[in-house]
Amino acid sequence: MSNSDFTPRESFGSRFGIIAAAAGSAVGLGNIWKFPYVAGQNGGGAFLFVYLLFIIAIGLPVMLAEFSIGRRAQRNAIGSFKKLAPGSPWYLVGVMGVAAAFLILSFYSAVAGWTLEYIIKALTNAFAGRDETDLNLMFGSFISGTWRPLFWQLLFMVLTAWIVMAGIKKGIEKYTKVLMPLLVLMIVVLCIRSVTLPGSREGLAFLFRPDFSKLTADAVLSALGQAFFSLSLGMGTLITYGSYIGKNNNLTGTVIQVSAADTIIAVMAGIAIFPAVFAFGIDPAEGPGLVFITLPGIFQQMHGGYFFALIFFILLAVAALTSSISILEVVVAYLIEELNLARRKATILAGVMITILGVFCTLSFGVLSEVTIFGMVIFDLMDFTSSNILLPLGGLFIVLFIGWYLGAGPARREISNDGALRLGYFPVFMFLVKFIAPFAIALVFIYGLGLLRI
Ligand code: TRP
Repeated sequence: MSNSDFTPRESFGSRFGIIAAAAGSAVGLGNIWKFPYVAGQNGGGAFLFVYLLFIIAIGLPVMLAEFSIGRRAQRNAIGSFKKLAPGSPWYLVGVMGVAAAFLILSFYSAVAGWTLEYIIKALTNAFAGRDETDLNLMFGSFISGTWRPLFWQLLFMVLTAWIVMAGIKKGIEKYTKVLMPLLVLMIVVLCIRSVTLPGSREGLAFLFRPDFSKLTADAVLSALGQAFFSLSLGMGTLITYGSYIGKNNNLTGTVIQVSAADTIIAVMAGIAIFPAVFAFGIDPAEGPGLVFITLPGIFQQMHGGYFFALIFFILLAVAALTSSISILEVVVAYLIEELNLARRKATILAGVMITILGVFCTLSFGVLSEVTIFGMVIFDLMDFTSSNILLPLGGLFIVLFIGWYLGAGPARREISNDGALRLGYFPVFMFLVKFIAPFAIALVFIYGLGLLRI
């Protein structure tokens, strides 16, 4: 029996704290850095359409399933399956989640490190007077370096570990509550500036006018991967956070608020970025550099651009931080509860291992840029394997677990807080987790990986 059976489990302190922490996990580089560039590479509007469809039909039920599993079991990602399905191989879903946490944080911390470099660039007014070509070169020469990006990645991992070490209420909840609202405000300001740029209409059309002829199987798989990534699904992050949510919280309400916040912020990031992309003549399929090149360009065109740039990159780093802690927490909670390590030791151990893996991701833009596996540099391989394979697969098993293993009875009891809430929509939820979500995920997955040609 593990010691967590005796000591009371840590939990979030308030309803707003729960939302802030979960939205803090969901809203991150995935929304502001990744969403615009993935949408850009996959044709814009049509991608957005499929993405929204996946959020509603798959994202919402998977999120509710994860929260319910975690809150019911009161355990980490692996322990939850062990407790709810003793003696069965279901715990392997949790194992896959912990593995995904390693891969994701290794490349996530690389990009998060870039945001720190850009805070310094903003602070020293390094964007002033530079056009798009200069900003492009500036970004390229920075990420292809060795020590600078590694230094920032290390610093970011230290910050992440420091908060995770402080625990749930005094670490994770305390910081996310203040910083998330600030981020929203900043993005609104950026949207306004971007849509008022001359030539912005083309950018908005790119984002909102779907051209379905551009929709490839690859784009559909990327939209699914992006939906999982952005909502922090499929990896046990929200199982772990669910285990810190009080028994009287209305899980459905939390799911809706968190998903809505996440989706709105991703779309707003698109609105901030695409008009500028077109106004400055940048290629929308530019890739991972998109925000780091276009936004400094917009800041140049703004009154007070110096301050906006500074605040923006600080908030981007913060958004990354509130997400990275949720990824690290998956591994740490596992080490604490299943291997009986102290929180401090667990955090250091997980942090060090992930940082080592992260070095390879960072260097894949520089000295390791020639090293490719399946035609991808290490950074892309980590991203592809986790976002497009492990997360959807994890999500598939999670809905199957609720829909077919645990079943309607226990699921209803958990989601309705033991009957205290009336759940008119419950049959719809069960239908989604039993049939629609598994079928859709499996189909997209098989088709997107090229295992099946229709
Ligand atoms: N959702 C976060 C973002 O958009 C990243 C993230 C946090 C994540 N936890 C996760 C992604 C768990 C996948 C799984 O930046």
